[in-house]
Amino acid sequence: MKFFIDTANLDQIKEAQALGVLDGVTTNPSLMAKEGITGKANILKHYEAICECVDGDVSAEVIATDFEGMVKEGEELAALNPQIVVKLPMIADGVKACKYFADKGIRTNVTLVFSAGQALLAAKAGATYVSPFLGRLDDISTDGLNLIEEIRQIYDNYDFNTQILAASIRHTMHVINCAKIGSDVMTGPLSSIEGLLKHPLTDSGLAKFLEDAKSFDL
Ligand code: G3P
Repeated sequence: MKFFIDTANLDQIKEAQALGVLDGVTTNPSLMAKEGITGKANILKHYEAICECVDGDVSAEVIATDFEGMVKEGEELAALNPQIVVKLPMIADGVKACKYFADKGIRTNVTLVFSAGQALLAAKAGATYVSPFLGRLDDISTDGLNLIEEIRQIYDNYDFNTQILAASIRHTMHVINCAKIGSDVMTGPLSSIEGLLKHPLTDSGLAKFLEDAKSFDL
């Protein structure tokens, strides 16, 4: 399973990259706004800076909601760097734009997916990635992981190439459960990745090894 970090914060991206396990970055308008980035030129520059911090794919979301606007913005984003994946919302014009970009060989990530039917449409339109938001489903007492399972089954039934990018990951157990189901990618905060490191028996075991090693008189 690929690990993407879901942030526009350069320090956190660098920290995850330094750990050696990072495969890409996802952003969205809320995450960009959180970093205080404003103005088109600054936003484009920030995407370029993100691409410099990581070797893998970087999802950059369009703001337009009409087909022509999405195509214009998406082409501009894709031209920034070959790492850029154009992120499109799961609406009718987003699906049309997804098909347009697929035909042109531009990679896409269809976002704001909350049902298996939406994921099926995204795959039919040739999406590179589909982003089901599992945390937000959990938030409304609906089983987000179940959606990942449904999409996995549908994509496997028909050998769709679209990769399942489990999004809105909130914690480490989401990461582990997505890996058990066979999600292709997960994107989450740095804490969800670093949480995988932690076990009290690792800490106490290491402390004991170091204590015993004192007798080695190195
Ligand atoms: O990748 C989508 C993600 O950013 C949404 O996460 O935590 O805002 O539901 P969240």
